[in-house]
Amino acid sequence: MLDQGVPSPVSDKPTPAAGGFGALMRRKPVERLVAEGGHGEGGTLRRSLGMWQLTMISIGATLGTGIFVVLGEAVPKAGPAVTLSFVIAGLTALFSALSYAELAGTIPVSGSSYSYAYATMGELVAWVCGWCLILEYGVSVAAVAVGWGEYVNELLDGTIGVTIPAALSAAPGEVDGALFNLPALIVVLLAMVFLLGGAKESARANTIMVVVKIAALLLFCAIGFMGFKSGNYENFMPLGMAGVSAAGATLFFSYIGFDAASTAGEEAKNPQRDLPRAIMLSLGIVTALYVLVAFVAVGARPWKNFSGSEADLAGIMEDVTGQNFWAVLLAAGAVIAIASVVLTVLYGQTRIMFAMSRDGLVPKVFAKVNPRTGTPRANTVIVSLFCGILAALIPLGELANATSIGTLFAFALVNIAVIVLRRTRPEMPRTFRVPLSPLFPLIGFGFCVWMMGSLDTITWIVFGVWMAVGFVIYFGYGMRRSRLATSGTSDALAAAGVADAE
Ligand code: ALA
Repeated sequence: MLDQGVPSPVSDKPTPAAGGFGALMRRKPVERLVAEGGHGEGGTLRRSLGMWQLTMISIGATLGTGIFVVLGEAVPKAGPAVTLSFVIAGLTALFSALSYAELAGTIPVSGSSYSYAYATMGELVAWVCGWCLILEYGVSVAAVAVGWGEYVNELLDGTIGVTIPAALSAAPGEVDGALFNLPALIVVLLAMVFLLGGAKESARANTIMVVVKIAALLLFCAIGFMGFKSGNYENFMPLGMAGVSAAGATLFFSYIGFDAASTAGEEAKNPQRDLPRAIMLSLGIVTALYVLVAFVAVGARPWKNFSGSEADLAGIMEDVTGQNFWAVLLAAGAVIAIASVVLTVLYGQTRIMFAMSRDGLVPKVFAKVNPRTGTPRANTVIVSLFCGILAALIPLGELANATSIGTLFAFALVNIAVIVLRRTRPEMPRTFRVPLSPLFPLIGFGFCVWMMGSLDTITWIVFGVWMAVGFVIYFGYGMRRSRLATSGTSDALAAAGVADAE
């Protein structure tokens, strides 16, 4: 079972269950991470996903609010150069995606970057990474679900002329008289029902939704192109490079999710081969679509006329055709697009919690697997209710903005993890290797830091508070309950039902 290379005697020994500083630095050996793969409390996850489905999971998690809504907000910051902003944000994602591809092929487990950090930089950094992933996945599910509700209202308005009243379509404090965001709760609960049915069933539903959303964006491009005016590109960078990078940082949100396939490492049929391919392929498809949509959008509508809302893309279709029908069709596409983001990102969050729970850093209930469906049922219900209630009752505001910073932080760590693992375990078989390492991972790290530096001060403050809460939880709970602390890694394996290799 443990066929991932020979452990290095020096560098990858399980670190002792020490207290104090030693505890913070204890690392989990790669072989043990891989050997535990799939094993939860009471059952195992099912390996049912092929390369194509993994690619669709990543595209499903990525293509959504960013292109349908955030594009409209980014254009006023960068002007026509918003296409360049997409390329910059895409490059940030690309270098980190290379690092994800290498590590996902080497350590194909559900914890994604949390597990990569555990193997390379120790428990505290792993916890920080996992806590950032909760921002990337859990909080963004809630934020994206809120965006879904807005599109549902637009669709209802365009088709039957009614909208859900404010009392039932926003969190208290967001608008006057708001009580509860019902649509946001509904979409999260729908996603929960699919996830409880099984990873394969969810992946199937996701694939259909991904095809619909790609078709909607291609339709936008075809129609928008009919109204394309090259004059709109005359003053390409009216707000300078600062505008381009500020828009890039905003648009980075639209790339979040390409790493979702890496949370499916324990349900993939051939993870070592397929995960790197799925990550790179999904990023390539998404980047090409984004640049194309942005290019057509600014060509069809002068940049100063963008309103900065979700109505921009639909408005362009209406302007070009003179008919409301196309705008309604686009809104329908957006409703499906964003629902698939909710489904796949929620999936990722449950699998990350699964991995953290198996390590003892969060309660055991998250690692329980239902033997009949091969899914972590209790985990799925708890995570879904948490995200649904967050979306329905809490005005997310700045917390949602902090998802990008949390994601960038996790990506920065993944780039470092590649360099560390190359040094500590050079002999490990790697199905994908980042070219020119350590240069490319360092460039990836630099891009992440640059993007983080382009985000607002308030976003940083919110992120600081979020991390402080994370430290309190780790030092109050995880550090003591960590399986590496309580019983050493051998027992962790035994608990997972895996024979120790040593
Ligand atoms: N990238 C995802 C979206 O744009 C989070 O909705």
